[in-house]
Amino acid sequence: MALTGTLPPLGSLMSMRILVLISGRGSNLAALVEAARAQAWPAQVVGVISNRPQAAGLQWAKNQGLPTQVLDYQSFASREAFDAALLCACVEHRPDLVVLAGFMRVLGEAFVQHFEGRLINIHPSLLPAFTGLHTHRRALQAGVKVAGATVHYVTPSLDHGPVIAQAVVPVLANDTEHSLSDRVLQAEHQLLPMAVGWHLRGELQLHEGCVRHQQGAAQTLFFPDADLTTAMAAPQQPNPIKALHASQASGPPGH
Ligand code: GRF
Repeated sequence: MALTGTLPPLGSLMSMRILVLISGRGSNLAALVEAARAQAWPAQVVGVISNRPQAAGLQWAKNQGLPTQVLDYQSFASREAFDAALLCACVEHRPDLVVLAGFMRVLGEAFVQHFEGRLINIHPSLLPAFTGLHTHRRALQAGVKVAGATVHYVTPSLDHGPVIAQAVVPVLANDTEHSLSDRVLQAEHQLLPMAVGWHLRGELQLHEGCVRHQQGAAQTLFFPDADLTTAMAAPQQPNPIKALHASQASGPPGH
């Protein structure tokens, strides 16, 4: 991707072809397809490729009449062979944009370079914090007070690349990995279609590695009142900070 400029040309909107890569349940794929339909985008998802045959999102896509394809990475001799096959499969769809929506394989440099500026990923953390796997577990272990999701252009470096938009949700004292990931996922479902829509309408500008919305739209979504019920309903975890305070309060006089 030229790290400066506007993308993509507005004139090509009518023919925008989105290819989505998934590995799992496909809820972000569904959010994208539903937004494209509800908002009558002059663009469509033209295919869904999964690296896992059992990905639930494949069935959802089939039910929607979308072309699907599986490239099971386990059946390839090497990472390079998988990447090459994936690149061929993607190119066949002639995509204007490739969206990694819960795609759990690290892509090689050749793939990333081929789709430079047309490759978008959603990651369930506030990048650059918590790249890689188990983001929610690690966020809880770190004791952060906000979590969220990031949509960004993909560069060869894992979970890095110019940030298009971020969604912020609170982390609650009694959160579990499950309750936090649920809350972040709800935010993801708004964040990804918003960011993809901007890209498709040519509303984004890239300057020295930073993405700006040309009309100044807020590139951060805040969910201060995000559905807290999942956390409230979750089993209470021992609260180490409370325990610390309690032990301090009952400590020996003068302590
Ligand atoms: C999402 O949290 C996404 O950010 C992460 O994996 C999850 C995929 O969920 N990379 P889904 O398959 O879109 O439901």
